[in-house]
Amino acid sequence: MNKVVLVGCGNVGMSYAYCLINESKVDELVLIDINKSKAEGEALDLLHASSCSKRKIKIKAGDYSECSDAVIVCIAAGRNQDKGETRLDLIEKNLAVFKSIISEINKTKFNGLYLIATNPLDVMTFATMKLSKFPANKVIGSGTTLDTARLRYLLSQQLNINPKNIHAYVIGEHGDSEMIPWSNATIGLTNINSFVNKTTKNRILKDVRNSAYDIINKKGNTAYGIGMCLRNITDAILDDSNTIFTVSSYNQKLKTCIGLPTIINRNGVREILKLEMTTEEQQEFNKSVEIVRNITKNLKV
Ligand code: LAC
Repeated sequence: MNKVVLVGCGNVGMSYAYCLINESKVDELVLIDINKSKAEGEALDLLHASSCSKRKIKIKAGDYSECSDAVIVCIAAGRNQDKGETRLDLIEKNLAVFKSIISEINKTKFNGLYLIATNPLDVMTFATMKLSKFPANKVIGSGTTLDTARLRYLLSQQLNINPKNIHAYVIGEHGDSEMIPWSNATIGLTNINSFVNKTTKNRILKDVRNSAYDIINKKGNTAYGIGMCLRNITDAILDDSNTIFTVSSYNQKLKTCIGLPTIINRNGVREILKLEMTTEEQQEFNKSVEIVRNITKNLKV
């Protein structure tokens, strides 16, 4: 039984849940929220929606005991960025939330995979691994999968090419220091340099980094993009599909959690792929790793 437990029924969590009932391999979805009535209301609303969807999925509000036989526990609980806040501003508050959630899950027989969506994403992924004492391959953060989706969207607009044929990735912190290893990017089999110059690359990187701030300034939060990315990662796990995403997971060499192209299957992280970069790109990536590692190495978990 492909059972997923979602902890946190806010905008991100419910966008993810709505994606799942529309198209996914999930058979059962359990919603947990600190506000039980909210979780019950969301479950009812989804149940009514699912009666119009093509596939059948069991949905209910529940408690942490539901984690015992779950394949995936997705944590999207905690505070979102307010206008003018960075993701790193959320550390203290969301670390306290995670300590309380994971201490409850540790009391159950949960032995599946954690999928983390709460910001600051890389730090919360690291915290989950430490608090749960799970092996690194079983704790996956959404990483820079959403940033990569934004990059492909912006390039597809710029070049009038289907995003599926744009092989470019955002890596590093899911945050202001994320970067694009352009030397590895291709459109089909053609190097990206045949399509965009340095000025355009810099503009696109700036637009990717500012996307969340722009959306938050306009509508107060971001939700659909991350919800869809979480659904795609979920299906790669349930399908055992060995699909590559720039998820965040603990990197033994870098000693922290950071977004890199990673093969995902039913066991979680199969392999973090090696990446050849130019000296300049490597320096930019190292700076991003340093920002996250300087936080995780002092995290009180
Ligand atoms: C964003 C949030 C998910 O980038 O961090 O939209």
